[in-house]
Amino acid sequence: MNRIEELKREKNAVILAHNYQLPEVREVADIIGDSLELAVRAKEATADLIVFCGVRFMAETAKILNPSRKVIMPVEDAGCPLADQLTPEMIADAKAAYPDAAVVLYVNSSAGCKALADIVCTSANAVAVVRSLSETTVLFGPDANLAGYVQRQLPDRRIIPLPPGGHCYVHHDFSLADVEEARQRGGSIICHPECPAEVQAAADVIASTGGMVRRAPEQPVWNVFTEKEMVSRLKELYPDRIFYAKDGAICHDMKKTRRADVLRALETEEFEVTVPEAVMDRARRAIERMIAVP
Ligand code: 13P
Ligand code: SF4
Repeated sequence: MNRIEELKREKNAVILAHNYQLPEVREVADIIGDSLELAVRAKEATADLIVFCGVRFMAETAKILNPSRKVIMPVEDAGCPLADQLTPEMIADAKAAYPDAAVVLYVNSSAGCKALADIVCTSANAVAVVRSLSETTVLFGPDANLAGYVQRQLPDRRIIPLPPGGHCYVHHDFSLADVEEARQRGGSIICHPECPAEVQAAADVIASTGGMVRRAPEQPVWNVFTEKEMVSRLKELYPDRIFYAKDGAICHDMKKTRRADVLRALETEEFEVTVPEAVMDRARRAIERMIAVP
């Protein structure tokens, strides 16, 4: 048995990894998924130690949902530049300007921001979450492309992006030139809702990374408009299908975690994820409200 397996048993640990993690990390993971699937599995985890391979907001969400467990991140500074674009002060100001609006925060946000949200969403359930609300005006952050996607699905709501131009640098970089290249190559286009509106409009399917896993069997050839590693994950799941990635679509924070970091984290139990109690309690309400949306 290898050392990671030994330590996992010894410490009653579970390893969770996002779809974008490197193959060498996914290979040692017990659970691989999108941000919604990982949040649900973290909440249900009975292990004493949760090793979260992804980025900080995901590990914080695991801690908030299962606070009696020790949650560690193998690499302390693996963050999400999109999540960093929203602050609690910006939410407070927007709430003062739109007192009747609901605050819906993408899970890609800090725990401090989530504590100010009425409800959280992921890219897998954003439309269902907003549809479940009685408010017609919604402050939605921090991804403006996802906010636009929700607005187009729910035209009777007023979705106000917060901040107006919030975006993920990996997805925002997809363009109509990529669509053109994919159309020349052939195959269908599946795109993440963090991509720009014109790319979404030209794609065949819009889906979260978990949705991509579910929809992949539908076609023989796909151009996958999201972080590049998703293609290695899809190839591993569906070796008889063809998937194309965009070379430059790399989330550098997702690439920080290596297998050696996972081993070191299991040995030392560093780096522990902590969130102040009061923030956790308020953020948990917003995340659990999301999980309860059918
Ligand atoms: P998913 O919820 O689709 O896994 O996306 C998370 C993310 O960070 C996308 O960039
Ligand atoms: Fe954040 Fe974008 Fe990386 Fe996802 S791909 S973790 S949204 S920076």
